[in-house]
Amino acid sequence: MQSTLNPLVLGVVGAGAMGRGIAQIAAQAGVRVRLFDVQAGAAANARDAVLLQWKKLQEKGRLTEAMVADAALALEPAQSLDAFADCDIVIEAIVERLDVKRELLSALEKIVRADCVLATNTSSLSVTAIAAGTAHPERVAGFHFFNPVPLMKVVEVISGAMTDDGTAQCLTDFAQRIGHRPVRAKDTPGFIVNHAGRGYLTEALRIVQESAAGFTQVDEVLREAAGFRLGPFQLLDLTGLDVSHPVMESIYEQYYQEPRYRPSVITARRLSAGLLGRKSGRGFYNYESEASAAAPPPADAAPWSGPVWIAAGDAQARSQVTALIERCGAILETGALPSADALCVVVPLGEDVSTCVAREGLDATRTIGIDTLTDCAGRLTLMTNPATARALAEQAKSLFSKSGQAVTLIEDSSGFIVQRVLATIVNIGCDIVQQGVCSPGDLDSAVVLGLGYPRGPLAWGDQIGPRRVLEILHNLHRTSGDPRYRPSPWLARRAQLGLSLLHVSG
Ligand code: NAI
Repeated sequence: MQSTLNPLVLGVVGAGAMGRGIAQIAAQAGVRVRLFDVQAGAAANARDAVLLQWKKLQEKGRLTEAMVADAALALEPAQSLDAFADCDIVIEAIVERLDVKRELLSALEKIVRADCVLATNTSSLSVTAIAAGTAHPERVAGFHFFNPVPLMKVVEVISGAMTDDGTAQCLTDFAQRIGHRPVRAKDTPGFIVNHAGRGYLTEALRIVQESAAGFTQVDEVLREAAGFRLGPFQLLDLTGLDVSHPVMESIYEQYYQEPRYRPSVITARRLSAGLLGRKSGRGFYNYESEASAAAPPPADAAPWSGPVWIAAGDAQARSQVTALIERCGAILETGALPSADALCVVVPLGEDVSTCVAREGLDATRTIGIDTLTDCAGRLTLMTNPATARALAEQAKSLFSKSGQAVTLIEDSSGFIVQRVLATIVNIGCDIVQQGVCSPGDLDSAVVLGLGYPRGPLAWGDQIGPRRVLEILHNLHRTSGDPRYRPSPWLARRAQLGLSLLHVSG
């Protein structure tokens, strides 16, 4: 296999969104690139579009005139696949069809050198299946870039069942040379990024399906308490349900109906209604008429002015709620039991308020829960139980708003919003590593760079504390009976032994 990368000639087949992006960054890095597309004129048009991008980068001062001139010389449209005879690496970024990709690789094999690496940018097909159509599957690997390629600085290097280590290493080195972070993955459904991304959307959809909260509430809480750039429903609208829902179904089916990836009837129904998202003008949000999208906010109730009592529980959670209550200027009750006129606050971890009320023998009509997972920072989430007096819940909301923080009031749900979504993300991340899909470090890098999460799943688990994540999952599993929440052995073992999820000991 190719190990020395200088001088390097890259072939790119398919001059669509991905092919031209790959050609752009490679030529910018000084690699000689040949670009071919089956449609006449497509490669030349793609080159023109890339030249325009470079001019813009030059205007912004990111590239010099000399760099643009060199890059322009490096990128050549090719008239046929024969131009790839001296290529070191050929990347295909053509239509996502197994038969067409196999046919292309077979044709390439007859043209390229024996040591040329053949890479596929497939996002959903099996690399092993694509390679199986070739005479030399050992030189075929996945090389999965993200859209837009110049901005998404990560690429998955995927080894199929027959891929040679040298092939994967060659693509890993090449990725570094063109300024992308390579992450190594085994050929499994969704590879790393599309697999790790299952938790955020499916758990958010479950919360809404259970009527625990509305989709705008879920988006607000995950952005403002957990730090996601886009809420899950904003993300679904941006990607379009015509893309997201089939991906959810495909990964679920490819994993033989693993409950952790179970899609939702919500997206299935909305897809059939044509509510695709931004591209159709209406999705979860309405992009045609701003005015009808937002319901008028309810009038604020007077803040709760009586005493507030906090149930015993986790010491850290209690001290956070105590500080919050003090910030809000409320009177804190410190007795072992609440007085008859106190607002009772419980701090569930993976449980619902009803379970806490029943276990501790509290008055359900005046008990609410508060989520302390994100240290009572950012947007606060309060949770009622089915018996909580509505007026009291609204007064509690007004009281906690006196902290200066936004407050979301939701219905009873085991694990609130943030606990459920983060525990699911951490659990799926742990299981990806447990299955040997990739290394812990590559998982976290891929998620941060490929999905834009504020942290990787394992770093997040370490920050929350593996034991707390495990407790949330055990409680979610117990209260729901849903195997979706069964903890991954990677998490359970490390939590019990007090080890880090991200940093491998020894
Ligand atoms: P696209 O539709 O924008 O471009 C595909 C190009 O390939 C077209 O110009 C088409 O004429 C050409 N083509 C089709 N069959 C060909 C053949 N046999 N020989 C030569 N050229 C051929 O598609 P896009 O979005 O660039 O995707 C390409 C590949 O990258 C697909 O496998 C896709 O799954 C994968 N991918 C796409 C991502 C995206 O967000 N668009 C992200 C990651 C991977």
